[in-house]
Amino acid sequence: MSTSPFSSRRPSERRGSERRGSELHGLERRDSGPSRRGSIDPLKLIRMDKTIHIGGHNDFNVVFIGAGNIMFGSPEGPWNHSFRFEHKLGPRLKVTALIDPAIERATSVLQKKCDSFVRSAYEDTRVYKSLDEFVKNMTPNQRPRAIVIGSPPMFRGTSQSGRDTERQIMKHFPGVPLFIEKPIATGPESEMQESFEIAKQLKESGTIHSVGYMLRYLKAVQQMKQIIIDNNLTVMATIARYACAYEAIAKPDWWTKSKSAGPIIEQGTHFCDLSRYFGGEVDISTVNAHSLEWDEAAGNLSKMVVDESQIEPHDRIPRVTSATWKYESGAVGSFTHLVALQGQNYACELEVWADGYQLKLVNPYVSPVLYIRQPGDDDEHVMRFPDDDPFFSEVSILIDQIEDIEDDPDAPQILSSFEDACKTYELTWAIRRASELSRLKKKEGASTPQA
Ligand SMILES: NC(=O)c1ccc[n+]([C@@H]2O[C@H](COP(=O)([O-])OP(=O)(O)OC[C@H]3O[C@@H](n4cnc5c(N)ncnc54)[C@H](O)[C@@H]3O)[C@@H](O)[C@H]2O)c1
Repeated sequence: MSTSPFSSRRPSERRGSERRGSELHGLERRDSGPSRRGSIDPLKLIRMDKTIHIGGHNDFNVVFIGAGNIMFGSPEGPWNHSFRFEHKLGPRLKVTALIDPAIERATSVLQKKCDSFVRSAYEDTRVYKSLDEFVKNMTPNQRPRAIVIGSPPMFRGTSQSGRDTERQIMKHFPGVPLFIEKPIATGPESEMQESFEIAKQLKESGTIHSVGYMLRYLKAVQQMKQIIIDNNLTVMATIARYACAYEAIAKPDWWTKSKSAGPIIEQGTHFCDLSRYFGGEVDISTVNAHSLEWDEAAGNLSKMVVDESQIEPHDRIPRVTSATWKYESGAVGSFTHLVALQGQNYACELEVWADGYQLKLVNPYVSPVLYIRQPGDDDEHVMRFPDDDPFFSEVSILIDQIEDIEDDPDAPQILSSFEDACKTYELTWAIRRASELSRLKKKEGASTPQA
């Protein structure tokens, strides 16, 4: 369901940092300092081409659930988990099963892998149409060391039969580490507690797991964290904006609320998550939101590539959703999602404000740039982070955790747990609900006769 914030065009970028000619030494190694719990020293985020394969010759069995874009890549963007697993594990990777009801699609992606130099990881991969079928037919040497869940969120994250992948995995493969794609679910809001229950079970069972909010692993994001930690800052506000290029979104399901759960839950979720990563826990009762809808004059889009008349009016998505909320710390959060741009490139920005500081992250998907204003200087410093690959970092850190190779207490940690991702899901649902409520109130107000 995911669509692309990426463009194949990469603007030419200057490397490193700059400030009108002078260097900002944001990436200098620090010997000691305040606790980095929940964050990673940006210097410890190793590029994929610089990674060293973990030693040993033992096979590392992985099961992939879903044979779609996130697992095997698509022209829309740089996601492709199989590619990162191949680079991290090298010849040790053995994909023992690929589970997808679309058998033909699964067989076809496997064939491509077997025709390439990574054949050894896939030559014995068996395709199954369901987890049940895999469980029933699994041989002992197919037993996974990790399971990667990249099926659509409507089929997981709950305790409903057929949509309870995590629970089934915990039952049949207790303790086996999981990687789970975002968002953790897209069912009705009434099922939210079921997702939190899964989070509790994962936590209590001590299952290593990671949710795919990869933007947390960006070097630019960790640089922002480092500035906040080193200067003992308290975040006062987060201001996030996510503008997609709608002309490039050709999946009818994306435009259909009952299928995608809408653009905040499916797409804006990455920026709601980043906002929470900096602002902390959200007081959900404070979430307010407004939307510009498809049937309002300003919501008319001239370059839509799907035929919206095929979608029921109540199921059509808003063009703009704008929300504000209070964090439990007292800080204020805001987020605007826009379905407004044409062409290919998205425009996404996150600002984090603290006493004396403005940290502005721009273009995090394509080529992240960080603008820093700090005390003692009215000019912004600029840091650029070309060639960063947060998709690799999240996979690499998960595998290091599973292998438990790092003695270093400061070794990079998994940054997104299922419980944390549930809270992001909760925030995105609260934004959707608040915007629908304010729309309803406006409609009711308009239809109430004036005294
Ligand atoms: N982090 C990111 O930037 C990013 C990027 C792309 C996708 N995603 C996420 O990855 C997930 C999958 O998206 P996608 O783009 O790969 O979708 P996709 O439609 O390309 O592929 C999904 C695949 O899952 C299969 N499937 C359906 N039901 C299944 C089930 N019950 N068990 C196993 N497989 C099943 C489908 O047949 C399909 O082949 C979504 O949650 C999406 O949001 C995240």
